[in-house]
Amino acid sequence: MKHIKKHTLLIVEDDDVMRKTLEEVFVKRGFHAHSVGCGMDAIKFVKKQGVDIVLLDIRLPDVDGIAVLKHILAIDDSIFVIVMTAYPDVKIAISAIKAGAYDFINKPFELEELKLLADKAVETQRLMSEVQRLRHKTGDECLPEMIGDSLAFSKVKEFILIVAKTPKTPVLIQGETGTGKELVANAIHCRSNRADMPLIKINCSAIADNLMEAELFGYEKGAFTDAKETKKGLLELADGGTIFFDEIGDMSIGLQPKLLRVLENHSFRRVGGIRDIKVDVRVVAATNKDLQSMVRKKEFRDDLYYRLKVMVIHIPPLREREGDIMPLAEHFIQLNNKDLGKDIEVVSPECRDILLQYSWPGNVRELKNIIERAAILANSNEILSEYLPRELVEDITAFMPAINKINSINATLEQVEKAHILHVLNSVNGNISQASRILGIARQHLRKKLKKYSIENS
Ligand SMILES: Nc1ncnc2c1ncn2[C@@H]1O[C@H](COP(=O)(O)OP(=O)(O)OP(=O)(O)O)[C@@H](O)[C@H]1O
Ligand SMILES: [Mg+2]
Repeated sequence: MKHIKKHTLLIVEDDDVMRKTLEEVFVKRGFHAHSVGCGMDAIKFVKKQGVDIVLLDIRLPDVDGIAVLKHILAIDDSIFVIVMTAYPDVKIAISAIKAGAYDFINKPFELEELKLLADKAVETQRLMSEVQRLRHKTGDECLPEMIGDSLAFSKVKEFILIVAKTPKTPVLIQGETGTGKELVANAIHCRSNRADMPLIKINCSAIADNLMEAELFGYEKGAFTDAKETKKGLLELADGGTIFFDEIGDMSIGLQPKLLRVLENHSFRRVGGIRDIKVDVRVVAATNKDLQSMVRKKEFRDDLYYRLKVMVIHIPPLREREGDIMPLAEHFIQLNNKDLGKDIEVVSPECRDILLQYSWPGNVRELKNIIERAAILANSNEILSEYLPRELVEDITAFMPAINKINSINATLEQVEKAHILHVLNSVNGNISQASRILGIARQHLRKKLKKYSIENS
């Protein structure tokens, strides 16, 4: 068998004749074959130089072969070690396999048999690296469920993969409504080594404060009138896995120190309980609120905020990652094609312009809903602007004469200011009070600006 990539093979054998013979055989076979005569030299060699396969005689003059095997695998566990045992050392062969050897061969053996075994090891290594390559390509490691390659979103994805690998650190996901916070939480869990354990989700704004504690920590029998039996809480159910606190900004201030205790000591007590219960969970929290300003207003505990803030993933709003809009739209079109049995292939140029210029206050979720609606209405293979909701088209047409007629790269601040004032005025039908409130300036100040920019307000 010819190997395209030369594999390095180390022979560890104290019998000089045997060692030289094997070295010649494997050099001829296309390996980078080397040989040593004792266990210590084998370990030194592996430490110094990368090795793919080791043929290891289990009876060595200096060190026990199993110890050498373990040492080699401790240096690099991807090395395939084939152990050569003297017949009838079946017990040794078994302990070698248990210690992580790839295979074993009994002495005396046919050279052909050993060659086949080495070829099989090479083939298995090749397949393993192919599987790894494909896994990478198909996205096991590049988050295929997350559409968007804009610079801003690529950074989010990179960070998710980093965070996933530190499975004990709490994570705080921040982002406006509909930006994909839950999707990110799922990805963190699924890419971590907790993936086979539960991911438990709690929406802090959906559970009444008085029920939340029992829900989260469970309760002991008799803790309160309705506690007829002891019940495990969500934290205990999440043991080994991840617990996701959605809308953490809505967690009651009374419960927050208890969550902090879980983060710091990994332990809690059931309601009415006197015993500390240990849990191994990763806490992921999400919010669309500005926690920092909540801390300033004493609506959120600073100690919990600083504990959660160690790893923050900020998902930028869709309007700040324009490059993701069309790939997301196309992704949702494909999903709808499947669900609705349609065959939509394109988005009309006008519709595309509208999608790209809209401000997306509801972010990805809004885009998803709008595409679903358009896909239902479409009766050809094209999505036209008439299938978009009116407010979307109006938002754009009001905005377009102002901002979009300006070449934004060359625009002066004054041009942008004028365009923005016009846009806001338009959206409130010329109501100066409302417009000044939105713009954050006093009415008189706005009037001065209208004069300055010769904007007539009827
Ligand atoms: N990058 C993305 N690629 C594909 N789908 C996405 C992406 N981001 C969000 N979505 C989809 O958009 C919808 C909204 O996402 P998600 O529920 O995770 O947002 P959220 O930030 O948790 O929203 P809310 O603030 O309302 O709780 C989901 O259907 C989700 O699958
Ligand atoms: Mg959510």
